[in-house]
Amino acid sequence: MDEMTTDDRPHKAVLIPGDGIGPEVTKAVVRVLDAAAAPIVWSEKQAGLAALDAGGGEVLPDDTVEAVERAGVALKGPCTTPVGKGFQSVNVQLRKRLNMYAAVRPVRSLEGVPTRFRDVDIVIIRENTEGLYSGAENRVTDDVVISMKVATDSACKRISRWAFRYATQRARRKVTVFHKANIMKMSDGLFLDAAALAHERDYPNIEFQQMIIDAGCMKLVQDPTQFDVLLLENLYGDVVSDLCAGLVGGLGVVPGANIGDNCAVFEAVHGSAPDIAGKNVANPLALLMSAVMMLNYIGSERSDPRATDSARRIKVAYDLALKDDQKTGDLGGSLSTDAFAEAVIERL
Ligand code: NAI
Repeated sequence: MDEMTTDDRPHKAVLIPGDGIGPEVTKAVVRVLDAAAAPIVWSEKQAGLAALDAGGGEVLPDDTVEAVERAGVALKGPCTTPVGKGFQSVNVQLRKRLNMYAAVRPVRSLEGVPTRFRDVDIVIIRENTEGLYSGAENRVTDDVVISMKVATDSACKRISRWAFRYATQRARRKVTVFHKANIMKMSDGLFLDAAALAHERDYPNIEFQQMIIDAGCMKLVQDPTQFDVLLLENLYGDVVSDLCAGLVGGLGVVPGANIGDNCAVFEAVHGSAPDIAGKNVANPLALLMSAVMMLNYIGSERSDPRATDSARRIKVAYDLALKDDQKTGDLGGSLSTDAFAEAVIERL
């Protein structure tokens, strides 16, 4: 047998199946990537309830975090954080511990998925490490609890530069910041100032727009095609991601990536969907699209055309499947999770 050269070697990636529909959709996605000969070798690790059930006593074991640090990339299913049991969200912890400060969520209309609007093409960039997700909550009196919204100048500037650089590299024309600086003058004010500064100082060629978030949401649902890149702090980014998913067919079709300077974790915007878990009906497409983002990331960060090529083939195949009306229930079809994966594989 020929020996593998360095260039033939697959890339190590961590696979976190997660909870609820996570194991079903990750299994379907891994099947598609295998069929597309994606140059990936998986190392499976646990997070969420699955990690607790495995007996470690933690929703995010050190072993999982270290594996992602070593591999540099991971594909993650959604994780359930037990409510009211003292656990900090798995996702918040993972993003903070690996300093993945930028969440990127492309929201695009898909042919074969009829929705109110056509030609939606928005990229949401969400600050991933602070804001109200800092978890700094206190009971002040029996009657009062407070939750602290943290904004740091450095993190606001970092995500602003990142968003404008992303817009420049992807030939996008405009960055819009949604904020509430009229009320939260200091925290949202800092965020807004950082974005304006990045535009003025380093990226004057990208149009900059700012909008108070309530008006912005109204405009989004009236005509989403007026938006290009949306830059938001943590909580707003979380909420507006689901709103935008609703504009293009729902949570089954919106992928995402959490990106830092040293590693990236790719995951769909949706959660663990306990209402449909274990029924083989969840749409694996959002996670498959996230896997395509992962392959493109590997392709460009590590200059590996095999990764980019398998990403392209998978995208062509799922686009074809949708055009051929091969869809899961959330998109008005009747295919199971596995049958949709099979339909994509047939079209590779
Ligand atoms: P969810 O996204 O899990 O579900 C919302 C609705 O969308 C449900 O009706 C669900 O059936 C549907 N849905 C979601 N994904 C779908 C898919 N792939 N195919 C078809 N239908 C789909 O949001 P929810 O119910 O608020 O959260 C459930 C759990 O997920 C919570 O424990 C939450 O903390 C966790 N979560 C985890 C995330 C992550 O790990 N990145 C992100 C969001 C929530």
